[in-house]
Amino acid sequence: MSEAQVEQHEPGHHGPHGRHGPGRRERPPTTRVDWERSDNFHNSHLLRKDEALDAAIRNSEANDLPPISVSPAAGQLLYLLAKSIGAKRVLEIGTLGGYSTIHLARALPDDGKVITLELSEHHAKVATENITKAGVASKVDIIVGPALDSLRKVASEPKFDFAFIDADKTNMLNYFIAAKRLLRKGGAIYVDNVIRGGLVADPAADTSEFSDGVRKFILAMKDDEEVEATTIGTVTGKGYDGFLYAVKK
Ligand SMILES: C[S@@+](CC[C@H](N)C(=O)[O-])C[C@H]1O[C@@H](n2cnc3c(N)ncnc32)[C@H](O)[C@@H]1O
Repeated sequence: MSEAQVEQHEPGHHGPHGRHGPGRRERPPTTRVDWERSDNFHNSHLLRKDEALDAAIRNSEANDLPPISVSPAAGQLLYLLAKSIGAKRVLEIGTLGGYSTIHLARALPDDGKVITLELSEHHAKVATENITKAGVASKVDIIVGPALDSLRKVASEPKFDFAFIDADKTNMLNYFIAAKRLLRKGGAIYVDNVIRGGLVADPAADTSEFSDGVRKFILAMKDDEEVEATTIGTVTGKGYDGFLYAVKK
C-alpha cells in the first residue's frame, strides 16, 4: 500500500445496511487530500488562533529553519499530555525553533521547567527569540550541543515528569535510555516519527539511517521491562507517521 493510500477499515460488525450503514456512501481508499481536509476540519473546531505560535512559525521560516516542527494538533497533544500528568519538569530532545517547546512550557506551572537540547546554535538562537516572544522564557532552558553530550550533563535530580524525543533518529534508542534514567516513576516519554510512512516496518524497502535508527529502537522495546508503551499511527496532511508513548513503571 502506498503512503498516499489507506484502505478504509471498519472495525466491529457491519449491521443490516452493510459496511457503511445508511447515509454513508462507498468511497475509494483515502488520499492525502482527504487527510488534509479532515485535519483542517478538526483543527478549525478544536485549535484556537494563536498569535505566538503563528509568529514562531513565521520567524522560523524567515530564518531558514526547515519546516519540520510538530503539527499544530500534535503540539496541542503534547500540551494536553504534559498538563494531564501535572508535569513540572519536561525534557525535550530537538528544539528547532521552539514550536513544540512553547506548547510544553505552557502546560507547566510558573515554577516548571522545560530543558530542551539542540545541536544547532542557529536553531537555538531562533528558538530563544520565539520562546521569549511567546512569554515562556522563564520556564525554558536551551542547552546547545550534541544531545548525547548534553544528556550526560543534565542533573538526574530532580527527576523529569515528561520527555519528548524529536531529534536525529540514529540516536533514538540512546535518547530513550537516557530519558528513562532521568524520568520519575510514572513519568511519560513521547517519541516522534516512529512509523515514517510504514517504512520502519519494511527494512527491504528502506535501510536509511533514519529508518534503521527507529527500527533499532522499536526492536529494543520488545525486551524493555522498565516501561509500558504503545505506538499510535497518524495520518495528516503531511502523510502517514506516528508516535510511541511510554510510561515508566
Ligand atoms: C524535528 S526537529 C525538532 C522539532 C521541534 N521539536 C518542534 O516540533 O518544534 C529536530 C531538531 O533536532 C536537532 N538535532 C539533530 N541532531 C541533533 C543532535 N545530535 N543533538 C541535538 N539536537 C539535534 C536538529 O538541529 C533539529 O533542530
